[in-house]
Amino acid sequence: MTGFVPPYPHRPSKELGPLDTLKAVRRDLLSIWPEQSFSQKFSSTKILNRWIFIASSPETVKHVLVTHNSKYEKKSLLMRKALEPLLGNGLFISDGATWHKHRAIENPLFSSEQVAKYAEIMVKTTEERVHQWAAIPAGTTLDVLPQMGQLTAEIICRSLFGNHLGAEQAAQVVQSFAEYQAAIEQMDIATFFALPNWMPGLKLGKAHKAAKRIHDIVDNVIAKGANSANDYTLMSRFLSRLGDNSSSGSLTAVQIRNELIVLFMAGHETTANTLAWAWYLVSQCPEVEQRMHQEVDSVLANRQATFADYEKLVYTRAIIDETLRLYPPVPLLTREAVVDDQIGKRRIPAGSVMIVAPWLLHRHKLYWDKPDHFIPERFLPDAPVKPDKFVYIPFSTGPRVCLAKFFGSVETTLCLAILARHFRLTLPKGEQVIHECRLTLRPKNNLPMQIVPR
Ligand code: HEM
Repeated sequence: MTGFVPPYPHRPSKELGPLDTLKAVRRDLLSIWPEQSFSQKFSSTKILNRWIFIASSPETVKHVLVTHNSKYEKKSLLMRKALEPLLGNGLFISDGATWHKHRAIENPLFSSEQVAKYAEIMVKTTEERVHQWAAIPAGTTLDVLPQMGQLTAEIICRSLFGNHLGAEQAAQVVQSFAEYQAAIEQMDIATFFALPNWMPGLKLGKAHKAAKRIHDIVDNVIAKGANSANDYTLMSRFLSRLGDNSSSGSLTAVQIRNELIVLFMAGHETTANTLAWAWYLVSQCPEVEQRMHQEVDSVLANRQATFADYEKLVYTRAIIDETLRLYPPVPLLTREAVVDDQIGKRRIPAGSVMIVAPWLLHRHKLYWDKPDHFIPERFLPDAPVKPDKFVYIPFSTGPRVCLAKFFGSVETTLCLAILARHFRLTLPKGEQVIHECRLTLRPKNNLPMQIVPR
């Protein structure tokens, strides 16, 4: 068990006032939470005349995300404005009947049987990265965050489109995503605190241009793919729904395009951040690193990894689980109350913002022993205390739980294990690692580390 406490943002000693909160939010979304937030079960504040509630106990999380989830819609108007040009009415931002229909169509695409097939892509793509790293001089410093970003973008691209999207077009999509994100990032942060539906300095023109480039490429691939829909890509699974008027599950070409883009967007940054944080955490704890090496050497031995290894990589999985606890890629989930509600004695007026924060829940003093320590052992099957399923929620919970929770867990575990079979990653002396929280929580400055063959 390690005594390592990885860095976390400064916690103010008392709650910030509304103006200071707004200023701090623009600097860093995670540094606004005072020490007391990590021991409160439910709290509230009023900013710009709007109530903001923070649900931080298993009971209140279950209320908002599970039992009364229909009273809390997913995204604010501002969030829709930010993401609609790219995602249309795709799964991530839709609510109500559209969301229900699309989610019902997409759930089976991510069953464990299906994920087993995508695991082949995960393994093959990671093996390619092993070959690339093996070709560079030992000890070369690489930026690990973009390395993991390229790896996971490649995996999701191949899972979605197979070979239909060539390398050049894939690179254009990735680049346009980055441009889109940079253009909307400011807006995205504001949504968490329900700022009015305007923001100075928004560059939506740039966002629209980037969205158009992505649409053109994906529309083109769909048009070509529609004639050869017999392979095993997510796109071909969607295309089997095209114009299927006989079933309630038909989708138009534009809806399919939107859903494919949602999957690309949701499916690579989260996994890349998780892997980058995991490399950093492991590099700081020799005993964790050693135990992981023993496991990957004995489970993977000298053969290629398979989907079946996921179950066997118990300790590697625990490292991923603990990484997701300490650095949840989506640290805050926000909802808007669409009708009046009541939680305990508190009335929740329609229009209030409800925040469920994995960031607070995962480091909550009432629910964890040594909440800020890195201790993968707490996730081992024989751990004396099991994490509460409404407190540990890196993938959210309830009907809007991550569509690809299992895919994401298999992908991060296999990628880490395969790379760790061949390499150690070490942090250069004097390198400080801090976080950056924009759309997702990631290490700032790209996390340069030395790649050392084992
Ligand atoms: C470690 C990896 C991942 C983490 C931690 C993660 C986390 C999450 C979280 C917290 C949400 C809920 C967001 C909210 O309610 O505001 C979510 C939703 C979603 N995720 Fe993931 N995710 C991961 C990987 C993936 C992957 C690989 C894909 C696609 C292949 C994906 C697709 C989606 C989709 C489509 C949704 C929206 C579901 C809906 O609204 O019905 N995620 N994810």
